[in-house]
Formats: sequence, C-alpha cells, structure tokens
Amino acid sequence: MLSHDSMAVHAGRDGLTGQGVHALPIDLSTTAPLPSVEDGGLAYEQMATGGPRLEGQSTVYQRLWNPTVARFEAGVAVLEGAPEAVAFATGMAALSAVLLAAVAGGKKHVVAVRPLYGGSDHVLASGVLGTEVTFTLPEGVHAALRPDTGLVVVETPANPSLDLVDIARLVAAADGVPVLVDNTFATPVLQRPLDHGAALVLHSATKFMGGHGDAMGGVVAASPEWAVRLRQVRAITGGILTPWPAYLLHRGLATLPVRVRAQQSTAHKVAAGLAGHELVRTVRYPGLPECDPHGLVGTQMAGPGSLIAFELRSAEHAERVPAAVRMITHAVSLGGVDTLIQHPAGLTHRPVAAEAKPHASLLRVSVGLEDATDILGDLVRAIEGTR
Ligand SMILES: Cc1ncc(COP(=O)(O)O)c(C=O)c1O
Repeated sequence: MLSHDSMAVHAGRDGLTGQGVHALPIDLSTTAPLPSVEDGGLAYEQMATGGPRLEGQSTVYQRLWNPTVARFEAGVAVLEGAPEAVAFATGMAALSAVLLAAVAGGKKHVVAVRPLYGGSDHVLASGVLGTEVTFTLPEGVHAALRPDTGLVVVETPANPSLDLVDIARLVAAADGVPVLVDNTFATPVLQRPLDHGAALVLHSATKFMGGHGDAMGGVVAASPEWAVRLRQVRAITGGILTPWPAYLLHRGLATLPVRVRAQQSTAHKVAAGLAGHELVRTVRYPGLPECDPHGLVGTQMAGPGSLIAFELRSAEHAERVPAAVRMITHAVSLGGVDTLIQHPAGLTHRPVAAEAKPHASLLRVSVGLEDATDILGDLVRAIEGTR
C-alpha cells in the first residue's frame, strides 16, 4: 500500500497510461451520445437515483455524471480513507446536500457544535432547507439528541476560533446518530475523521485542496449508502462540480501534503511571534499548548495546521489592521498559497447570532507559502502602525 503522500500524487489517476495520456483529462461535454432510448433511459434512471455509473453505460448528461469530476472524487475518497466521495459546486452546496438528504430520510433535527463557519451556521440557523437545529458545545451533544435527530455537525479545528473537538468522544456522545466533520481546516493530510468514527467528512475544496484561490468546490467523503443519497440530491438539485474546477482541485491534491506541511511550519513561527507581542492579547493556534488542552495534536491530528486567530486589545484596533497589511491580502477564504487576513465578526461570521459571533477584536490569518519573517513582519508592522 502506498504512503499517503504518494496516494495524493496518484489517487484518481487509474487507467491514464492505458488511455495514452499523462495529465488528467478534462471532459467538458454537457451531454453524451446515447446508444438507444432503452439503454440511455436505464443509465438515466441508474444515475438520477444516485447509483454509480455502471461500466460501459452512457454518462447521459453532465448533471448526472462526469469523468473528470469522478476522478477528483476518487482521489478525495482515497485520501480520506472513505469508500466513496461526492463532489459539489461549493462547500455550501455539499453541506446543503447532506442536510437535504437527512430531511428526505425523515430526520430533520440537526445538532450542531458551535463554532462553525458563518455560512454553515447561517444555513442551519435559517432552517431554509427544512432542518431544525440545536446549537450546542461538544459536552451538550448527548442531551441535545431527539428521536428525529439525523445528523451531528462539527468543525475541528473550528472556524474561526481554532477550537479542537475530540471526534471519537463526540461520536460516542452522538449515540449512533451520524456525525459530519467539516475537515476543511485540517485536510486529510492532518486528520482523517472516518478513522475516529465519523460518518461523513466535508470539505470546502475551494480552500486547501485547490490551494491557489482559483477554483470553487465542495466534497463529502462517506459510505456507499450516503453517496447514493447525496448523488441523488445532487442530480435533482443540480449543485454539481463542473469539470474545469474539478480538474484544478484534483491537480491540487498532488501538492496538498507538501503545501500543508510547509504552511504549517511557517504558521508555527508566525503564531509564536504574535504570541510574544505586547499588543496581542491572545493567539489561538492548535500548536500552542494552551490551545490544545486535550492533547489532540499528535493523536487525532498529525499537526496543528496553518490557520491562526489572534485577538488585539480592542475591536477598533482589529478592524484597522487588515487594511494596513502590504504583502498579505485582506480577503476572506483560506488555505491558498498566499497569506490572507480577515475580520471574522465583520465578514465570514457576519450572519452568526450575536451570542455566538466571534469577538470583534479577533482576526484570522491563513498562512501561505511566503517566508515566515515576511509574514510576521507585515503583521507586526500593521499591528503597530494602527495602534
Ligand atoms: C470550514 C468551512 N466550511 C465550509 C465552507 C463553505 O465552503 P464554500 O465557500 O466552498 O461554499 C467554508 C468557507 O469558507 C469554510 O471555511
């Protein structure tokens, strides 16, 4: 069996040599030739109800199946150690599909562990997809369960607080209810939630998987049973990943381990530098001992990752800093090759209810591949210059 790093380079690329190609092929066809009404109809039925495309069948229509997307899905499944993966237009489309599948299965209640990404919090709080939510902390999951609870949702590390949650303990507390872990921050390089009992792993592939800030996508790794339900929702609602971003995201998987480790090593230095600065009140980074009270880095996670959050002494100061950086970009999103800074309370977590909103003195940095001294220097100059 290949190592995880080798699989990142090769997963989802089976059969290319036989086709006489080396790079991933992109099939842009929106529709596909049908051998006959009968065979085409059977293929349509097979895929529109969420089944996998059968060998030799027409792919019928891009909303049902696309080989470039299927290759990306195969790659993600291998890296997450999952039987299958299903890709979507965005991370939010992926989460929406899971919620719709839970509701369609007759279980509309969701227990959600806060904090979550603001968009995930928003879709759950709004109930727009027919779910009912109980927001809680990890300790409150068991008490929040109802007979109609279909899903427990958690992010670890969480956006933007970088809180870590013990997945195996959460799975035990969920008492058989499927647990979905948003693994966007950790990536399968640092954490594989299925190994700890999670039923579903979700990624905003827009982030580390693509890694270059130029392709959007979402993906869920899960059992074949969940994959059927998710593909059916995807075929019906149309939140598909299209071939061009699928190609870019799949290409990104090959460098994922190298990028994640390089960015992590730099983030360590940046976090340590910020922690020692007199104008910084607290630094939240799982690589700092005080941010990992349960010792999950080194056990559940292979490393602390490359997202850092830090608080300044006032909200006013925090709001001035993003506009003052020079090399770093003031922008939402994360996980790319360049460093980004943003103000969660004002941007990514703007829709979150007041009682759960991140403090306005908090800033979030996604550390990229630049030199640690340059990143820290830019941050410190911006912090000191706006005090
Ligand atoms: C942790 C997390 N999950 C999900 C999403 C949603 O992903 P997308 O923006 O691809 O819809 C984001 C986006 O920032 C995120 O940070």
